[in-house]
Amino acid sequence: MLKKFANSLVASGGKCGVVSCAVVLSASALLAGCSQASFATDNTSARGKDLIGQYGCGTCHTIPGIDTANGRVGPPLAGIADRIFIAGRLQNSPENIAKWIADPQSISPGSAMPNMGVKPEDAREIADYLETLHDEK
Ligand code: HEC
Repeated sequence: MLKKFANSLVASGGKCGVVSCAVVLSASALLAGCSQASFATDNTSARGKDLIGQYGCGTCHTIPGIDTANGRVGPPLAGIADRIFIAGRLQNSPENIAKWIADPQSISPGSAMPNMGVKPEDAREIADYLETLHDEK
């Protein structure tokens, strides 16, 4: 009786150990992946944020994370990362957001968003920041 109990304890202890070990391993793999990814985005998106300030996008757009960006001429950019289309025309991707920012008038002639003379590489960094703006759940 006691032996049976001890055996089952050992058996379940063993099983438990394997499971929790696997969980710990995969969790730390996730964490490692995560911290690497967010390190990369943090760097680029911080620059993107500065560029948004420099180009004055906040005159027309309310943009989370940027205090001075509280314009109401264009659509608010909160949650833009979760939209299917941008400007009602392009499928949402970092590339397409960058294209839009660099040259909205060639994509949507007559749009109320003017060409701002944004350099393509700056547009890409701004797009990287905007793609971090998810809807709050
Ligand atoms: C003069 C006002 C104005 C300025 C300045 C401006 N925008 Fe816009 N923006 C708009 C308007 C208006 C729209 C909607 C255009 C449309 O749908 O045709 C828009 C649309 C957008 C969209 C698509 C939004 C959506 O909901 O689909 C993005 C992204 C965007 N702007 C980013 C920027 C960035 C980045 C800057 C700075 C480089 C900027 N805008 C500067 C007026 C402006």
